[in-house]
Amino acid sequence: MKSESRNLAEITRNDFPLIRNSELNSKKLIYLDHAATSQKPKEVIDTINEYYSTYNANVHRGAHQLSARATEAFELSREITSNFINAYSSKEIVFTRNATEAINLVARSWGDKELNKGDEILLTIMEHHSNIVPWQLIAKRTGCILRYVGVTENGEIDFEDLTNKLNKNTRLLSLVHISNALGCCNPIQKITEHAHKYHTLVLLDACQSLAHQPIDIRSLNIDFLTGSSHKLCGPTGVGFLWAREEILESMPPFLGGGEMIQDVSLNETTWADLPHKFEAGTPAIGEAIAMGKALRYLERIGLNNIQEWEKVLTKYLFENLNSIEGLKILGPNPEKQPSRGALATFTVNNIHANDIAELLDISGICIRSGHHCCQPLHKHYGLNSTSRASLSFTSTLQEIDQFATELKSTIDFLKRHS
Ligand code: ALA
Repeated sequence: MKSESRNLAEITRNDFPLIRNSELNSKKLIYLDHAATSQKPKEVIDTINEYYSTYNANVHRGAHQLSARATEAFELSREITSNFINAYSSKEIVFTRNATEAINLVARSWGDKELNKGDEILLTIMEHHSNIVPWQLIAKRTGCILRYVGVTENGEIDFEDLTNKLNKNTRLLSLVHISNALGCCNPIQKITEHAHKYHTLVLLDACQSLAHQPIDIRSLNIDFLTGSSHKLCGPTGVGFLWAREEILESMPPFLGGGEMIQDVSLNETTWADLPHKFEAGTPAIGEAIAMGKALRYLERIGLNNIQEWEKVLTKYLFENLNSIEGLKILGPNPEKQPSRGALATFTVNNIHANDIAELLDISGICIRSGHHCCQPLHKHYGLNSTSRASLSFTSTLQEIDQFATELKSTIDFLKRHS
């Protein structure tokens, strides 16, 4: 298969210890579960090792050199994260444990303060549980109403439904950029333009897009964005919330404790300045520093280059899967939506997704099976579980060939033994 895009796998695979020459069940490892968590380049792993081996100390606390060095590296990572999404200031970046915690932060802090009975939060049925459950909890506490935008037959957001459901009571629209199940890429600029007509704030869950295309919060014109390091070639245990400074200023603290205070007396406390007001307790220091390293790595490869190479891979994945009898892919075809995510979620007639994933594992191939933390979407399609193969810029056309070949024999085997 010919392409004008740069084959990034050729130049990046050696950077990833777990991808280069790894084996699973004595077979060459083919990791196709990048949407669940990305693999990490050696320089990211080394960054964590270097922190713990040479300058492990708490941040913002000590007068000693180790603490100063840790604080500098930690704050540099905030700066890198801010630049990565073109934020207005690094004060707008709040480090959290992951994107889930970032959404909970908004729901608890902004939601508790702003939402009243009768206010509406608009979500979509394609959201993963992290962008549904925090809002259900806040709806119980405040009496606000949750409404959901549907999907089209093609597996894209139903824009007409969205415009019908937006109204003057809609205080927040919280939605995913690229769906981790459908793979569709939502037209955020167009959506934000509509939402802002009603003064509705827009929260973008960018977990599945940040490592796959350039993201600019200014051109998207959103109000909140959440991301997780572990899906960005960084470590687990750290993520971030971005929000406009004036919104963060207006929000009360989320968790109380050390680090987020200015002055504490027995009956009263004043808060630290942004972003520390939202960062109670000792953070995941080495992990946050390594996340900065991971973002620098992605920038060096080039988000535009990543997007172009993953388009080639996705088209090839779809061509291969579409040639398998009885297999049906959820979500838009790349021919119809070229900006879609580099993953394919599928069902196979009369075969359980877990059986497929378990047999592929024996062949050294990792895919995900289950509901992918998207039970409402699966219920919409009348499904309990699906299989999902998800790619990254380190993926190769040969891996897709091998996956398709093994998948065909797995399906044949399961049909023969059913
Ligand atoms: N949300 C992650 C996934 O899609 C865990 O697999």
